[in-house]
Amino acid sequence: MTKKIVALGGDGIGPEVVNAAIQVLEAMGLYIEILKPLCGEAAIKKFGTPFPKEAMDLTNESDAILFGATEQASVFILAYLRWFLDTYANLRPIKYYEGVPTPIKEPEGINFLIVRENSEGMYPGREGDLSLLAENLPDYKDRLGKSFADYGTGKFAIRIFTNKGCERITKFACEKARERKAKGFPGKVACVTKSNVLKESCGLFQKTCEEVIKNYPELKYEHFYVDDMARRIVRFPKDMDVIVTSNMFGDILSDLAAELMGGLGMAPSACIGDKYAYFEPVHGSAPDIAGRGIANPTASILSSVMMLDYLGMKDRAEELENAVKEIYKEGKVLTPDMGGNSKTSEFTQAIIKKLK
Ligand code: IPM
Ligand code: MN
Repeated sequence: MTKKIVALGGDGIGPEVVNAAIQVLEAMGLYIEILKPLCGEAAIKKFGTPFPKEAMDLTNESDAILFGATEQASVFILAYLRWFLDTYANLRPIKYYEGVPTPIKEPEGINFLIVRENSEGMYPGREGDLSLLAENLPDYKDRLGKSFADYGTGKFAIRIFTNKGCERITKFACEKARERKAKGFPGKVACVTKSNVLKESCGLFQKTCEEVIKNYPELKYEHFYVDDMARRIVRFPKDMDVIVTSNMFGDILSDLAAELMGGLGMAPSACIGDKYAYFEPVHGSAPDIAGRGIANPTASILSSVMMLDYLGMKDRAEELENAVKEIYKEGKVLTPDMGGNSKTSEFTQAIIKKLK
């Protein structure tokens, strides 16, 4: 059965890197059909909206979505993909490829997976005036015994952790650790919270993870506070296997960890839910280099590798990943961010040539 992929480039370099990935996928002769509805900045110009109905309808019928990047214009698309399609598990693999410049001394063998909760926590942003809390929760007292009114004027942000949200993400992480263990990885889940300060919300995340992992007797469990984990990722990157954490901690740790593998130009991601999945580079829209044809499409291509894997095309995923691996090992065709002077199109062609 032919799989339906919807490509949504978004803003900035998003369309450029997604187009590179599309060219590569089309050259592979896969059983996929890639639909390319107009969206993002280009759609605003033509239709006055970043996510026209056609694009949304196709997205709703897709087997998988390839997404580029958001500036202001496409924030709504990202919101739709994450919260309306409920793609709650954000997988951010951190894997070092030989030849890639990195600030780490001995990067060979770095290979771990960050599983970021993608649907709650501090996102999608619940904020307001402190006066709203003061009026509606007059009896609430914090650990210092202070009420909201005691703080005077200001703003609040609310962080939500649900039982369901904590359960499904920690289960997802355990499943991934189990899959990785079958491939020879240690089978370790490191739960990352700040439960020493946020005893209720982070406490729930931690407790849930401890409960869920009981169903996986073959896995090892660890817990680290997020500040400690930040330094461990730099200091002991090869000790990591699967890290599971809440939304904003995962956002921050994944940017930090991406530097181990050579930076955001390399880092792919998958956002997976029960019905939908979308795949996007961890990097943003890089408006400073947009339109110059020099963006590094590796993260987008590696996100396509994750997509092929998700669609059950495991051998083809591996084939594409190997092409990327070889390009970096040879180090001849590299984009400027990697110290080379090749264009996006030259890099893309080099990958396609490797596939043949
Ligand atoms: C990411 C990005 C997004 C996030 C932004 C664009 C809202 O940084 O995917 O990591 O914070 O999740
Ligand atoms: Mn981020």
